Amino acid sequence: MQFSTFEKIGFSFMLAAWIAWGSNWIGDALVAAEPLQAAAFKIEGGSGAAPETAKKPAAEQASGGMDVSALLASADAVAGVKTFKKCKSCHTTDKGGKNRVGPNLWDVVGRAKAGAAGYGFSGALKGLGGAWTYQDLDAFLANPKGFAKGTKMSFAGLKKPRDRAAVIVFLRSLSDQPKPLP
Ligand code: HEC
Repeated sequence: MQFSTFEKIGFSFMLAAWIAWGSNWIGDALVAAEPLQAAAFKIEGGSGAAPETAKKPAAEQASGGMDVSALLASADAVAGVKTFKKCKSCHTTDKGGKNRVGPNLWDVVGRAKAGAAGYGFSGALKGLGGAWTYQDLDAFLANPKGFAKGTKMSFAGLKKPRDRAAVIVFLRSLSDQPKPLP
């Protein structure tokens, strides 16, 4: 079957339109995924809403009103190792590791706040109370001085939710028995 030049041009137009529509659709789908995650990361209830959450079994946690889950689930501990370079000058991560300028961070998820053995915490951190839940870690790492006014952790904070999630997933891995994800 032979197509006339006219028909060939017609087909090319159809194909071009089809590709344009297709990539537009894929692009929309990709872009839509981004703001969704950002919104899913909004934390409700603020600090202290469920200070013991990290110690509870996963089923209970699921109903604990945690919205950090979506981002944590997709977060990447490998990226977290990279981000953690910003923390390394002050924190060790090995089991039984030394306290430096800041406390050792082994098993910090679910640990009592200001709970690192042998470290002289500020009154600000001691005054927080409760254990380090995912949402409290997120709030602290976003803005240490905002979350714990007067803390001696001189760190500006990780502005990007994605960076915080990655670092928190990495912190979670520093344990013989990592706490369940929210
Ligand atoms: C300039 C040094 C410094 C840097 C950089 C730093 N920290 Fe800290 N961090 C501290 C100090 C000091 C404390 C103790 C704060 C206090 O007692 O007020 C602390 C406390 C903490 C705690 C609470 C530990 C506990 O047992 O309650 C966590 C969690 C933490 N840091 C995580 C991080 C992470 C993650 C990063 C990198 C994103 C980071 N820190 C970067 C110095 C630092």
